[in-house]
Amino acid sequence: MNIILLGPPGAGKGTQAQRLVDRHGMRQLSTGDMLRGAIKAGTPVGLEAKAVMERGELVSDAIVSALIGDELDAMGPDTGAIFDGYPRTAAQADSLDELLAARGRKLDHVIELEVDEDALVERIVGRFTCATCGKGYHDRFDPPKVEGTCDKCGGHEFKRRPDDNEETVRTRMAEYRAKTAPILPGYEARGLVARVDGMADIEAVSAAIEAIVAP
Ligand code: AP5
Ligand code: MG
Ligand code: ZN
Repeated sequence: MNIILLGPPGAGKGTQAQRLVDRHGMRQLSTGDMLRGAIKAGTPVGLEAKAVMERGELVSDAIVSALIGDELDAMGPDTGAIFDGYPRTAAQADSLDELLAARGRKLDHVIELEVDEDALVERIVGRFTCATCGKGYHDRFDPPKVEGTCDKCGGHEFKRRPDDNEETVRTRMAEYRAKTAPILPGYEARGLVARVDGMADIEAVSAAIEAIVAP
């Protein structure tokens, strides 16, 4: 199965992708996470992406599509893929079709998380992740069960993203409206789009996604 999770910054793509991984053993392909990994590793891609991401603008189509192609090649043919934060432009949507076709894969669902933009800033400024295993949390909406200890790996160190500030979030939302939302009608014409209320609580959103991927 190959699924796209689509929605603006803070919609819950990463949160729901992690849950799909846990439930179905699928693989999360997050271009944002890959780019942050490249920055941390100091690779040429990371050097190019760093300032662009700090401004909240989009990294070049060629870079992100190459990252996705490499990840697809590294996974078994039977492992399902969850595309999180990719594609984000019409050119990326075309590239994804080619990347999948070349590997005998096809898109099953494009799940749009519908959210109210005003709530997203609060979600994003309250977000943090485990520095050891990467599990995502929120100060108010999804805190660790024991304060200061990761539920998943027991780690005690957490981190916040440098682009998770109000100003950058506004740019990221504008980029979403201008470049990413316009790819939806094409998927709709192919009968692939399912909409989920992303304003519901995390469990309810997971249940709605579950009803789409494993009816
Ligand atoms: P990326 O990392 O993809 O960030 P994004 O799209 O801005 O999305 P986020 O990760 O901020 O949000 P999310 O939907 O994953 O929300 P989450 O689940 O964490 O991209 C970052 C940057 O990289 C881009 O700006 C760009 O520069 C570059 N980039 C990446 N991909 C690219 C591409 N394809 N092309 C070009 N450039 C690219 O949830 C947020 C918080 O809310 C969490 O704390 C969570 O606990 C909480 N939460 C989640 N769901 C709920 C809920 N239902 N109720 C209450 N709280 C909730
Ligand atoms: Mg994310
Ligand atoms: Zn952890």
